[in-house]
Amino acid sequence: MTLVIGIETSCDETGVAVYDSARGLLAHELYTQAATHADYGGVVPELASRDHVRKLLPLIDRALAAAGCGREQLQGVAYTAGPGLAGALLVGAAVGRALAWALGIPGIGVHHMEGHLQAARLDNEALRTPFLCLLVSGGHTQLVDVRAHGDYRILGESRDDAVGEAFDKTAKLLGLGYPGGAALAELAMQGNPQRFVFPRPMLDRPGLEFSFSGLKTHVRTTLRQCAGSDQDRADIACAFEIAVVETLLGKSQRALQLTGYDTLVIAGGVGANRRLREELDARLAVRVVYPRVEFCTDNGAMIAYAGCLRLAAGQRDTLEIAARPRWPLSELQGFPSVLSPK
Ligand code: KG4
Ligand code: ZN
Repeated sequence: MTLVIGIETSCDETGVAVYDSARGLLAHELYTQAATHADYGGVVPELASRDHVRKLLPLIDRALAAAGCGREQLQGVAYTAGPGLAGALLVGAAVGRALAWALGIPGIGVHHMEGHLQAARLDNEALRTPFLCLLVSGGHTQLVDVRAHGDYRILGESRDDAVGEAFDKTAKLLGLGYPGGAALAELAMQGNPQRFVFPRPMLDRPGLEFSFSGLKTHVRTTLRQCAGSDQDRADIACAFEIAVVETLLGKSQRALQLTGYDTLVIAGGVGANRRLREELDARLAVRVVYPRVEFCTDNGAMIAYAGCLRLAAGQRDTLEIAARPRWPLSELQGFPSVLSPK
């Protein structure tokens, strides 16, 4: 198994990439629907599905052209099968399955979070299991014990909002559009870190669980208590970001102590956050590995890569077009890694 096309359509990003196990990533294309959903302040599932239908086939053509290969050269198809929005997932799964069937090659449904988790390996060939992974996306906040490839044990997760969701909701309160995580981070750079101190949720309690919904309430209350000037908003954004980063840092430290691992891998959209990266680098004694910023948020490259790993290990899915909007990461089975990452 060498040349695999990866298709990502789980939410509001259409991503396609071509990965070659011998030469590495050959091409990746992304279309973001952010502008489509911005007016609604969140992702509208029906609009997301329709946009995937419109964009996916042209994006596949573009990715193949950029990779310099024809469809007939492909040896495998990987598509996100879950978790995510049902209709959006079905677009990628249907196109992926049809492509595999038409070309007579194997296809596999990839777990979106496994894609995120493996993304760091696209640029870090020396990364070996076991390691600890901090998965921080719009839908998930998890500390994962990666014992072996595909063998994931959740050590702790959020009881309520995911950290990306907390960024987005806070951004909305501060009047920054959707999705607001990156905009909030930018605003926070203008803020005074000393002015407000927000609580670090659950950091004072033992264990590895997270809770971020209270922070949002704290933001709302603080905003009401001041005039809401540009500087007030920047100071609040800064206090929020620091509280989140301190919490993620503290829980990661705890999980590293518990596992004894010497490597922490960051994955998911919030992994693009600069303060998080700087603080983890400065304050953790272990090696911290990040995906390229563009591969933190949703993309096709991570799906092509994770799919390539599983296809190379001999896994295949049946012809059925199946999507699993809810799919716990811990249900995945380990597999032998016969590919060394490029
Ligand atoms: O992994 P992802 O693209 O999608 C999911 O699988 O959910 O993550 C998207 C999340 C959004 O909540 C977005 O606001 C957040 O990642 N995000 C950020 C940054 N860039 C994206 N949050 C904080 N700082 C950033 N620089
Ligand atoms: Zn994602």
